[in-house]
Amino acid sequence: MTEKVTDLLHFFDEKQFQQDLIAWFKKEQRTLPWRENQDPYRVWVSEIMLQQTRVDTVIPYFERFMNLFPTVEALANADESDVLKAWEGLGYYSRARNLQSAVREVAETYNGIVPNNPKQISELKGVGPYTAGAILSIAYDIPQPAVDGNVMRVLSRIIGIWEDIAKPSARKTFEEVTRRIISDEDPSSFNQGMMELGAIVCTPRSPSCLLCPVQEHCRAFAEGSQEELPIKSKKKAPRPVPIAAIALENNEGKFLIRQRPEKGLLASLWEFPNVELTEGGLKENQLKHHLQDTYEINPKIEKELSSFNHIFSHLKWQLTVYKGSFIGHIDHEKVRTVSKNDLQQYAFPVAHQKIVNLILEGDETD
Ligand code: ADE
Repeated sequence: MTEKVTDLLHFFDEKQFQQDLIAWFKKEQRTLPWRENQDPYRVWVSEIMLQQTRVDTVIPYFERFMNLFPTVEALANADESDVLKAWEGLGYYSRARNLQSAVREVAETYNGIVPNNPKQISELKGVGPYTAGAILSIAYDIPQPAVDGNVMRVLSRIIGIWEDIAKPSARKTFEEVTRRIISDEDPSSFNQGMMELGAIVCTPRSPSCLLCPVQEHCRAFAEGSQEELPIKSKKKAPRPVPIAAIALENNEGKFLIRQRPEKGLLASLWEFPNVELTEGGLKENQLKHHLQDTYEINPKIEKELSSFNHIFSHLKWQLTVYKGSFIGHIDHEKVRTVSKNDLQQYAFPVAHQKIVNLILEGDETD
């Protein structure tokens, strides 16, 4: 590895590269709410939100989250249900649960101060090598690599690295390269500059090489291979999962919802009754049997409301949503009938939030 990286960097002028990248970042960086200061807690929350989610989507969530939970103590003391509600719509909810549990550990073990060394910070739940490096460099000015997919794309082009970035082993190469070329004087601007370059210049398709501040350092530009890099093998397509779900209203105008299990996909979020469909047999019949068996009610399935897909990394839910009714009332901890207005207080996954919206929209046209 060491030799391979030495070869890759043979003619690379890292000092000039650092200067050009950092000067450009300082002049051209976007104004983003997590760049207002170097508070490690804010940097941490932003980096967790920015994993798998676009900057434009994150901004309003970040601002709301910081108003609700402005400090380590505030988040440590919050109810998990309030944290999940604030995260609703961002997806990958285990990020929120892990963040809160790690913040609780910081409150208890480190007196509320986010640790500033690689070992302790990496032991926190949900803090992988990328997040650890991002917090250490951005908040604490410690030269550590923060390598995510965007940084791998930028580096693969600049240095000319033809490793498959979809392979978990590739990250090591990119981390090693970063350790060799990162600025010791300003690692925060260096790492953020790499991220910024990936976001606004060195984009996945049609990179703006003519506007690039480090064009003269770029091996791919010199060779004309910028559209071929990075090498990224295709992931398997998400597995389709057909599901029937239902907005089921009782004789008091309340809707049946249940809380998902504490472990697994979308843990602890709320949802409308639903069943994974098997091939053959009417969807309505499968749904009706599921409702009878699970909730011991005798439902009437009235009509189909909508159908749509929701894609996760490994799964694709293919939902058909029905409207139905039943007579009765349920008030358990994890299964409840709740009024239209109260639905808004529960955290639903995006697909089920769409069902909430169908219910509320139906109201307007009643
Ligand atoms: N993507 C990941 N981290 C980021 C950051 N700190 N600023 C902008 N985009 C990012």
